[in-house]
Amino acid sequence: MPEPTYRPLTGADRDELARFLGEHRWPFHVRERVGPAEAAEMVAAWDLDGGDSRAWWLELNGQVVGLLRVEDLDTWGDPSWDLRIAEGHRGAGIGTAAVRWLAGEVFGGWPGVGRIEAQTRRDNLAMRAVLRRCGYVKEAHYRRAWPDQHGAVHDGIGYALLRQDWERGTTTPVDWNGD
Ligand SMILES: CC(C)(COP(=O)(O)OP(=O)(O)OC[C@H]1O[C@@H](n2cnc3c(N)ncnc32)[C@H](O)[C@@H]1OP(=O)(O)O)[C@@H](O)C(=O)NCCC(=O)NCCS
Repeated sequence: MPEPTYRPLTGADRDELARFLGEHRWPFHVRERVGPAEAAEMVAAWDLDGGDSRAWWLELNGQVVGLLRVEDLDTWGDPSWDLRIAEGHRGAGIGTAAVRWLAGEVFGGWPGVGRIEAQTRRDNLAMRAVLRRCGYVKEAHYRRAWPDQHGAVHDGIGYALLRQDWERGTTTPVDWNGD
């Protein structure tokens, strides 16, 4: 399985970031195609100089093959992330490696974080396979909550990884019948 390296993004990466977002198709994001104006707008809104979010380029042999961004690291809510592997590099194990790596980074660096959340579209089977493989448990099913650029509305699925499961290698099920 390929093990990417992780290079932190800084404010100096904004142009490269806008290029990366515009260069690939993102079929399971709200915007499948990101035009230059939209990319610039998205990138301007990202805090790339610390704060309570972090972002990394994923690189293989010096080539950028993906982007990983986590936010809400210090706020009251739980951190959540977005992962985008470049077209041509999907399905090769990079996503799995990155999701595993992120758990170590977040739980290791932020002792107050007890859980990491992730949301994806119901039909994003690759993302869901990665989440399950990395110990995330489905906690929510949002019916007709995820619009796409073509006018359709999809279900969304909410997952989380608990620190205790990550530390012990366990899987705590959701108590669906709990009061
Ligand atoms: C989703 C994504 C992050 C996953 O990363 P990846 O590097 O492609 O994932 P991996 O190669 O580690 O694993 C994907 C797994 O899903 C499986 N998979 C892929 N497409 C599938 C499909 N249509 N049906 C079922 N399983 C599928 C693969 O077979 C693989 O499992 P395996 O290793 O057991 O064969 C990546 O494909 C991506 O960036 N997609 C576009 C952006 C995106 O959707 N991001 C997520 C936003 S929430």
